[in-house]
Amino acid sequence: MKYGVSYYPEHKSQAEIDHDIALMKEAGIDFVRMGEFAWCKFEPVEGNYDFTWLDPVIEQLGTNGILTILCTPTACPPAWLVEQHPEILYVDNRGVTRPFGGRRHYCYNNRIYQEYSRKIADAIGAHYGNNPYVFAFQIDNELAQEGTGRCHCQVCREKFQNWLEHKYGSIGELNRRMGTIFWGQTYDHFGQIHPPVNSIEVNTMQAIPAYFENPSLRLDFERFCSESNIEYQNIQRAAIKAHTDKIVTTNATGVATNSIDYYKAFHELDNYAFDYYPSLRDVEISSFPYAHARGVCNKDFWLLEFQSGGGHGLWGSGRLQPYPGALRQAAIHAFAAGADLVAHFQFRTFPFGAEQLNYAVVDIDGIPRRRFYEVQAAARDLKKLGGILKNSRFDNEVALCFDYEALWALKIKPIAKDFNYLKFCSEIYQQLIKLGAGVDVVSFNHDLHKYKVVIVPAPIIMSDEFKRRLKHYVYNGGVLLSTFLAGIKNPDNLGIVQSLPCGLTDVFGIRVGEVEPVVDRTTATVSLATDAGRVQGANKYWTETLEPNGAEIIGVYADTFREGLGVISRNDFGNGAAYYLGTGLEPTLLTGLVKRILKDGDVTPLPFAVQEGMEVFVRKYNHQNLYCIFNFRKEPVTIELGQDYNDVLNGATVSEQVVLDPKGYLFLLD
Ligand code: GLA
Ligand code: ZN
Repeated sequence: MKYGVSYYPEHKSQAEIDHDIALMKEAGIDFVRMGEFAWCKFEPVEGNYDFTWLDPVIEQLGTNGILTILCTPTACPPAWLVEQHPEILYVDNRGVTRPFGGRRHYCYNNRIYQEYSRKIADAIGAHYGNNPYVFAFQIDNELAQEGTGRCHCQVCREKFQNWLEHKYGSIGELNRRMGTIFWGQTYDHFGQIHPPVNSIEVNTMQAIPAYFENPSLRLDFERFCSESNIEYQNIQRAAIKAHTDKIVTTNATGVATNSIDYYKAFHELDNYAFDYYPSLRDVEISSFPYAHARGVCNKDFWLLEFQSGGGHGLWGSGRLQPYPGALRQAAIHAFAAGADLVAHFQFRTFPFGAEQLNYAVVDIDGIPRRRFYEVQAAARDLKKLGGILKNSRFDNEVALCFDYEALWALKIKPIAKDFNYLKFCSEIYQQLIKLGAGVDVVSFNHDLHKYKVVIVPAPIIMSDEFKRRLKHYVYNGGVLLSTFLAGIKNPDNLGIVQSLPCGLTDVFGIRVGEVEPVVDRTTATVSLATDAGRVQGANKYWTETLEPNGAEIIGVYADTFREGLGVISRNDFGNGAAYYLGTGLEPTLLTGLVKRILKDGDVTPLPFAVQEGMEVFVRKYNHQNLYCIFNFRKEPVTIELGQDYNDVLNGATVSEQVVLDPKGYLFLLD
């Protein structure tokens, strides 16, 4: 297990480098991640590669016990390249060309840029592939980040047309499958097709009202852009791999900031890696991105950029500092959640550039303060935990299916103002965690048979194959929960001309009747039958009425003109059970429903209670359970254990009761 920081020696004098390396050593840091923005140093003049500025730094770090992850610098094409080939620049959805002077100002589909990128990746691979201090390579930096994943240049337009032609074979077939007869959008040939001008990317400007564009074409553009970014990434992957067997990966952003389909993006890479900046001031850290990260490559993942502190910020306003203890806890929490490498962004505050005065582990004056000491403390604990974490694994009983095409489709045609697919998945995930269930977040293609409970939130697009697999899963004894919107569209992003949930009415034993969004004045009370009696509360987001067709209605509307109509159902199907939830639920109701489903699925409960502000991961260590317990609160928490455990960090036996410090953690072996 490795713990490190991002580092920028290209900004520094030798005296500063000496100072920083001494501090890193003192912190107990194992590695640095370098080079991702330094193309102008690696290749100051076309074809003249220069590694003399970096070789001694890698050597100096290495002899001090600090290894290197080296990045390709393609997020920042240098001035000479842009001057010579302005046609490589990124064009946004409004047709505005992104000029030199920021970062990520390139078109990933441009052949000239692809070739320059291949050559620099090749040069880096050739020079560092066998360097004993370099243990891995990162491709580019946060592909598609900051609104650069949906290029609209002429190259992209033509490539998109060809992509469509390849997919549909004939324009007639495209017209049919996209329903272009609507508003007379029928095309005569592929050359008439323009990429949609509306982007689903965060913070991008919209040119015309989004709803004027064909949703099927828009979904295909998302697929095309995702594939194009992956293709670009893999050109670099191949260039590096020609020289080395070392790990090659890239840093994704969160779960879905850029709408690249990360399940597909990491197929050819050696492990899943991503960047995560949770707030460490007040709230608990969501482990949803970690649960997702474990599922992308089905193994441990890397956190290539992780929160380091507050102060000034990149986006307009500054950022709050972590609450005392929270930085240390956050690092250990990430390792416990399945990371086997974590790197803080970044080591020491920058004086210049767009990120001047930004957060870092060490302040601008190079004097270690509390954040530094928390990193040091985390490094110390990691040395004690590394072995047991490395040799233990998750064996969770609950899966939550998250899908990029559902995400895209719901951004292309939102169902309600306050509904966000990713947040909805995360909301259900949090409920499960609060009840002590271990959850994996997985793709629709993941094997579901090992799970006792499978949850599929708002799966608006489902392939026939996925529907078949879900049925099979339930038939063979699984417990399934799906929510509103299940299977209403096909992969062409067209509504299916069938009763909802399309193709699944038998497994759920219902038909969906009327549907509408929930707005403030239409909120209804839902009444749910649980083991502890009926629970009532408000609904939100979206409403469907359920017409039972074999299923038992376990939740009904308790008021409004829908009073008495079904909204939550349970159906026996084969050896299993399928639940359908026709609306969003406020927390008490969701807890009630989730509890009932976990019990129905016979999910193993934790031997102690998870209190508010606590999180517990269970990992299997041989035949023992390793409980990784976190207290995110600012107050201590007392846990009633009820049996003896071994406290891994201090070797003591704990029994009966244990007190967890504010922002504390505990690793107990049963
Ligand atoms: C991203 C980038 C980093 C940095 C941080 C914010 O994650 O990859 O280079 O800009 O954001 O500080
Ligand atoms: Zn382009």
